[in-house]
Amino acid sequence: VIPPDIRCAQDYEFAAQRIMAEPSYAYVAGGSGRDLTVAANLAAFAQWSVYPRVLRDVSDGHTRLKLGQQTFLHPILLAPVAFQKLAHPAGEIDTARAACAMDACMVCSTLSSCLLEDVAHAAGPHKWFQLYFQANRDDTRNLLARAEAAGFGAIVVTLDASIQVPSARALQAGFRMPPDCVAVNLQATNAGETIELAPDDSRIFQGAMRAAPTWSDLTWLMAETSLPVWVKGVLHPDDALALKAAGVAGIVVSNHGGRSLDGAPASLTVLPAIRAVVGDEYPLLLDGGIRSGADIFKVLALGANAVLVGRLQMYALSVAGALGVAHMIKLLREELEICMAQAGCATLAEINSNALLRSL
Ligand code: FNR
Repeated sequence: VIPPDIRCAQDYEFAAQRIMAEPSYAYVAGGSGRDLTVAANLAAFAQWSVYPRVLRDVSDGHTRLKLGQQTFLHPILLAPVAFQKLAHPAGEIDTARAACAMDACMVCSTLSSCLLEDVAHAAGPHKWFQLYFQANRDDTRNLLARAEAAGFGAIVVTLDASIQVPSARALQAGFRMPPDCVAVNLQATNAGETIELAPDDSRIFQGAMRAAPTWSDLTWLMAETSLPVWVKGVLHPDDALALKAAGVAGIVVSNHGGRSLDGAPASLTVLPAIRAVVGDEYPLLLDGGIRSGADIFKVLALGANAVLVGRLQMYALSVAGALGVAHMIKLLREELEICMAQAGCATLAEINSNALLRSL
């Protein structure tokens, strides 16, 4: 059941803090290192106010949009979030059901704790697969083939997490991944193979980064699949420009919710510069720090076509399973519609930076 004190999407964050085991909450909420970028993501939204407008007729308003070949009823996607059994025993299956009920696109993580085939089955027509390059090309090819066979409509390859610093907050809370939270999609792969290092080798360069993808791997990937390939984890305009030139279908501006480079800029902060270099028509999504419909409005005003929400889905899942995730999406969508109506914007296309005022 949905607790009666959930009145807005962010209330799920506060409710989850009460409901989830402390170490699990710390793992989900925390970023890498000291949470500098987690804080930056949230603070970036506070720097903008939304101008209300009067007397505009929004009675034909809607939130529909087209992304690639697909039409969506609203611009809210579920970001790839690993190990969802941490939040609820049904894990990603419940999230997929909620996405289906609410016409949201779910992006299923390579590291999901349910089989990607089962997630695809539970999800609606809008489902994408988030790919992590595996150390071995056969393993990557195999994951791709499974995602295609399961009916996922796009590949979202995440490039900002080849190496991650543990969260100080999760470590302090004594977090350990519970035994039922397993990357079941990788069980038949060589993931976890240990690498032999020479005495002078760096644990980072010759160790963790040895198998990290480079530009040639991206080219290989795009030739390997017939699905559109999106790239997630881009913050620098030069990278965005080069990715567009390489032919990727679209870019997810993201700092992995502050879980990758601690000290990276907020996604929202770099969005205008990225939109400026890729041009008006190129598909851009953004995630990081979204907690309300007004946050979504700000993202759209600063140049993205749609958003992904990460932590909020884990929080809602932990509070009320599929019902919670569906309710959270409904609340976010209504909050966005309220903000649009008050700002005098009847469609997503009408939302632009003229609607915002820099307030700090
Ligand atoms: C993530 N994220 C993530 N991204 C990805 O590409 N693959 C993954 O497996 C995961 N796993 C994951 C687990 C957890 C617990 C979190 C919180 C995040 C990052 C995610 O897709 C997204 O970029 C951020 O969560 C967005 O920020 P917010 O909405 O959480 O502030």
